[in-house]
Amino acid sequence: MALYRKYRPATFAEVLGQRHVTEPLSAALESRGPDGSPDRINHAYLFSGPRGCGKTSSARILARSLNCVEGPTATPCGRCDSCVALGPGGPGTLDVVELDAASHNSVDDMRDLREKAMYAPADARYRIFIIDEAHMVTTHGFNALLKIVEEPPEHLIFVFATTEPEKVIPTIRSRTHHYPFRLLAPNTMRGLLERVVGEEHVAVADDVYPLVVRAGGGSPRDSLSVMDQLLAGAGPNGVTYDLAAALLGVTDQSLLDDSVAALADGDRAALFGCVDRVVQSGQDPRRFAADLLERVRDLLVIAAVPDAVKQSLVDAPEDRVDMLHEQAAAIPVGTLTRFADVLHHGLSEMAGATSPRLLLEVLCARMLLPASENSLEAMVQRIEALERGMPAGSGAPAPASAQAGAAQSAPGGG
Ligand SMILES: Nc1ncnc2c1ncn2[C@@H]1O[C@H](COP(=O)(O)OP(=O)(O)OP(=O)(O)O)[C@@H](O)[C@H]1O
Ligand SMILES: [Mg+2]
Ligand SMILES: [Zn+2]
Repeated sequence: MALYRKYRPATFAEVLGQRHVTEPLSAALESRGPDGSPDRINHAYLFSGPRGCGKTSSARILARSLNCVEGPTATPCGRCDSCVALGPGGPGTLDVVELDAASHNSVDDMRDLREKAMYAPADARYRIFIIDEAHMVTTHGFNALLKIVEEPPEHLIFVFATTEPEKVIPTIRSRTHHYPFRLLAPNTMRGLLERVVGEEHVAVADDVYPLVVRAGGGSPRDSLSVMDQLLAGAGPNGVTYDLAAALLGVTDQSLLDDSVAALADGDRAALFGCVDRVVQSGQDPRRFAADLLERVRDLLVIAAVPDAVKQSLVDAPEDRVDMLHEQAAAIPVGTLTRFADVLHHGLSEMAGATSPRLLLEVLCARMLLPASENSLEAMVQRIEALERGMPAGSGAPAPASAQAGAAQSAPGGG
C-alpha cells in the first residue's frame, strides 16, 4: 500500500502543521452548552488549501470525532463501532457519505444527495456528507443544495473540501465555517518523513531528507510519494544521497557549487562549462535553472540571516554550512537579487520552450552581462562589480592592468 495511504492520520493530533485548523475544531468538538449538549458544531464546513495537505483526511476525522459514541470529541475512542468503521481502512458507515464531486457534480447528483440528506441518521448522532473536490460542483448543482445548507435538519452536517474555495458559490460559502489548510514547513515535513521512515525500518541517509522535502514542495502526500519511491529502490545500504539525487534528477551539489563560483568570479567560460556538463550528463536544463534559483535563494537568506541553517530557514546538512557562507559572502546582495530575478523569469520562459538548453545559455549570458540591460537591477550589479574592482560591463574579473577606472570601455574577456 502506498505510504501516504498507510499513514493517513486518524485523529486531529496526527494532522501535522495545521494547528490553526485542528485546535479550533477540537475546541468546538469538546464544547458543551449549559444542558450538556454540543453547542458549537456548525452545519457546514469548508476545508480549503493546496493538494495533499490533509483536507480529505481531516473531513473524515471530523466525521469520526462527531459520531464517536463518546463524542462529539476531539479524541475519538477508536474502539466503538463508529470509530472502527470510520477509521483508516475501515468500511465506513451509512451515516457518513463521501461524494467525489470530480465525478458526481451534476444537478441530478446534488438532488439525489439532497434527498438522502433528509433522512435521520441510521444509528449515529449525525448524518455527515463529505463533498470532496467541491470546486467541481456546478453552479446549478450548488443551487440545488442551497436550501438544505441554508436550513439543514438538526442532524445534518456538510463538509466541503476543495483546492479552489473561490469556486464554491458565495451563498454556500458564507454559510460554512471556512478552514484554510497550508503547505507544511520544511522541518515539520522532515519530522513526518523521519517518523514514517522509522516505522518502515529502512536506512535513509541524513542528506536525503532535504531533497525529498524540496521535491515534495510542502505537500505531505507528494513528499510521502517521493519517499515511497526511494524506499522501493533502496539498496543494501538503504537510501543514499547518490541514489536519491539520481532518481529525483536533482542537480549534483558540486555542479551547483561550480556554477556559483563561476558567477562569483564573473567567469563566463566556467559558467558555460557548467551548462555543458548539465547537457552532457543528460539532465534537464529547467531542473538545473530551478535548482540554481533555489541555491541563489538560500544564499540570499544566509546573507540576511547568518544562522539561517540553525533557524531552519535554509535546509542544508551540517557539513555544507561553511561552504554556503563562503558563497554568500562572495556575491553582493544586489547581484544575487538580480540573478534570482533573471533565473525566475527565465524559468517561466523555459516552460514551453523547444530548446531549453539554448534558453539556459542565454540566461547565463544575461546573468554575467548586466551591461546588456538597462534595468535598475542590472545597474546595481554593475555598481557592485565596480566596488569589487571588476569591470562593470562584463561582470568578468578585471585584468591586472585595467582597474575599475577603465571599466566603462572594457569589452570584457571571456
Ligand atoms: N497535515 C498532514 N499531516 C500528516 N499527514 C498528512 C497531512 N496532510 C496529508 N497527509 C498525508 O497525505 C495523505 C493525503 O492527504 P489528504 O487526502 O487528506 O489530502 P487532501 O488535502 O485532501 O489532498 P487533495 O487536495 O489532493 O484532495 C494522507 O493520507 C497522509 O498520509
Ligand atoms: Mg482530498
Ligand atoms: Zn469512538
